[in-house]
Amino acid sequence: MSHLSGKRVLLGVTGGIAAYKSAILIRYLREAGADVHVVMTASARAFIGTLTLQALSGHPVHEDLMDPAQEAAMGHIQLARWADLVLVAPATANFMARLAHGLADDLLSALCLATTAPIALAPAMNREMWRNPVTQQNKALLESRGMLFWGPGEGAQACGESGPGRLLEAEQLARRVQDWFAPGDLRGVGVLLTAGPTREPLDPVRFLGNRSSGKMGYALATALAEAGAEVCLVSGPVSLDCPAGISRVMVETAMEMYDAVMERVVDCALFVAAAAVADYRPASVSAQKLKKKEHEVEISLVPNPDILAEVAALPHPPFTVGFAAETERLEEYAETKRRAKGIDMIAANLVDAPEGGFERDENALTLLWEGGHERFPLAPKSLLAPQLAARIAEHFHAKVTAEDS
Ligand code: CTP
Repeated sequence: MSHLSGKRVLLGVTGGIAAYKSAILIRYLREAGADVHVVMTASARAFIGTLTLQALSGHPVHEDLMDPAQEAAMGHIQLARWADLVLVAPATANFMARLAHGLADDLLSALCLATTAPIALAPAMNREMWRNPVTQQNKALLESRGMLFWGPGEGAQACGESGPGRLLEAEQLARRVQDWFAPGDLRGVGVLLTAGPTREPLDPVRFLGNRSSGKMGYALATALAEAGAEVCLVSGPVSLDCPAGISRVMVETAMEMYDAVMERVVDCALFVAAAAVADYRPASVSAQKLKKKEHEVEISLVPNPDILAEVAALPHPPFTVGFAAETERLEEYAETKRRAKGIDMIAANLVDAPEGGFERDENALTLLWEGGHERFPLAPKSLLAPQLAARIAEHFHAKVTAEDS
């Protein structure tokens, strides 16, 4: 593991039997190059020694909000600003509840309130505590504020029961941190990505369009570029700037998008279709502005090519990822679409759901592939995109490796 060099991780440890895993986690994070500061709650100290975490992190452990010596060394606001990422592992049900209600009566909860860095929670608790509606409601509330949930995993628990509530293993958590900062490694991989809506003209001033803002596609293009990919973005009309380090081709219609993609697809190993492409276009485009009529008018539409399906059907197709915008039976329709189009992965979202979709800054997605799926809860698109990019990179590499062997 590498790529965490210079990254600053604030690790919060709350009181659970799984706190011993945080010691191993610190080791992995430091081996990967991260700088780690540890904040322990009072009850965490009942489960693991301060000295252990101090020795492993290489810094004094922060414990007390009101300790003048600690505040003088690095005050809690300074610590909150210092972090690139706050990870609470293990996060108990009690800590989740306190966070959900904005309590700030100890150092860790105060830090979580004061930081502008992303916060990831790795829950660990008895399965019934996890399933309890109160905990689930707290989770939903925290997710709606953009907090990330890593785990819990399922399996044998310290209490002798088995079910959801296990802290993810230290290695899995370290991988999540790495994915967060550097979503997969796509250095030198050519990526072609479509984003935004298309406009299908009726006459010089009117068009058929849709509500896509392009935000999800642009965020994903940015995350893929940050993972080292050489990204070419074929974009429909949007009001977004071209992200740094990405080459962009602006198009208007589905046919223009199709031509732009087909011209460049040979140079890419990964094709992501995030655009909301019009399925139809007017059969004829009037050269002059259409005049108002006294009677009903009909517009005849002809189908546009399905860009994604055509790319997937090429003799040597790139790894293909599509999006499915659905209003009902999300995973079922998306999986049917994935198979029908013959693509590797599909990211499905409910477009009329209150929590996300078109024109929104947040989204919740389910990523589906052959034999598996992963749900990404509601998060700002800018936070969702690196997670999506990481999973895409992982499956892309797995397929390339399988084909090479
Ligand atoms: N897509 C495409 N070219 C089209 C239509 C869609 O490349 N002409 C891509 C989109 O970019 C998206 C995926 O196909 O990645 C799914 O598009 P969607 O509109 O949800 O599905 P459709 O296949 O058009 O089916 P329907 O509208 O019936 O849901």
